[in-house]
Amino acid sequence: MTADGPLILGIESSCDETAASVVRAGVNVLSTIIATQHDLHARYAGVVPEIASRAHIQRIVPVLRDAMREADVTWADLDAIAVGHRPGLIGSLLVGVSAAKALAWSLGKPVIGVDHIAAHLHAGLLDRPPVDFPALGLVVSGGHTSIFHLRDPLDITLLGRTIDDAVGEAFDKAATILGLDYPGGPNLDALAQRGDDRAVDLPIARLSAQHDDPHAPPCLDFSFSGLKTAFLYAVRGRPVSQRGTRGRNVQFARDARDLTNRQRADYAASFQRAAIDAVMQNVQRAVDQYPVPTLLVGGGVSANSRLRRDLVRLGTERRIDVRLPEMRYCLDNAAMIAGYAAARFGAGQFDDLTLAASTSSSIAAADVHHRHAEHR
Ligand code: KG4
Ligand code: ZN
Repeated sequence: MTADGPLILGIESSCDETAASVVRAGVNVLSTIIATQHDLHARYAGVVPEIASRAHIQRIVPVLRDAMREADVTWADLDAIAVGHRPGLIGSLLVGVSAAKALAWSLGKPVIGVDHIAAHLHAGLLDRPPVDFPALGLVVSGGHTSIFHLRDPLDITLLGRTIDDAVGEAFDKAATILGLDYPGGPNLDALAQRGDDRAVDLPIARLSAQHDDPHAPPCLDFSFSGLKTAFLYAVRGRPVSQRGTRGRNVQFARDARDLTNRQRADYAASFQRAAIDAVMQNVQRAVDQYPVPTLLVGGGVSANSRLRRDLVRLGTERRIDVRLPEMRYCLDNAAMIAGYAAARFGAGQFDDLTLAASTSSSIAAADVHHRHAEHR
């Protein structure tokens, strides 16, 4: 270990990216290698778990070798091996966890298990100066849409989360409805640049805590399933009722091929406005409730141009240090895993060879409210 902090190799394999990275002192990224599997899953328009875990097995060793070569360090130089061990697809996580434990055992180095969600919140700190705590955190991805309070990097509380779909999932679904290629989020974002975001009126769920107490804090949960259905009907019309037809066989009045390019762009822009306004509505509520100096942002949807624009604006207006990750650290990567692990290393929080993979996050809510949805 050097004076400025530990040298950590991080491994990420929670979903459909096989990634490895070497990071010094939690922020100095020496290498970040990502092998995506998008080509393998595209024809299924979603991640197929069995295909994902097989691809991780094939790619993990070359990805690790590349990360070490690019960082120009030796195995002996490493202070610890970190791995994203939760949440995610169990078969995918097991590949990374097994690789990390095998390396740690053979090298005689400690292993550090990292929560993938906590790591996403660290992405905006990579290659940048440190931030002040306490902070708020926003994770927006294909699997998660959550708001957190961070007393410090190791003390994280869940304030609100989606009660149905994640925002990235809604983007991907909307893109499919518009006939765009998988994964659709970035394609929809690009198409939306050319559209009128007021062309179509779409609903934004406004959830509220079901409390008898009028002083209860506002609810910070999200819901995107209503928006998804409203968008489907807006593009394709209401289903044509036919006795006995359900699910995939439901007939619609029209589909995206009947739209002009101009209309498709308008639909994309209107969807993006509704989805991002829904995220921003809760970020505003959180900032009102918790006046903190810092907002950490992470996850694939933090690459979205409209969300980035709105968050930068909020940061300026409210004098908050909003940490949007560099584009390459928005999507799943291992630099955020190795970076976050430095905080656990500093606190002496090591794991051992009993480290297990888990499908759920370790970050818990402070208390549980009953909620109900109200539509605008
Ligand atoms: O964090 P991530 O790589 O994986 C998960 O942990 O889920 O996020 C992937 C998600 C996908 O749903 C993808 O469509 C979405 O992030 N995404 C975007 C954009 N870039 C990626 N959504 C909206 N706008 C974008 N520019
Ligand atoms: Zn992720």
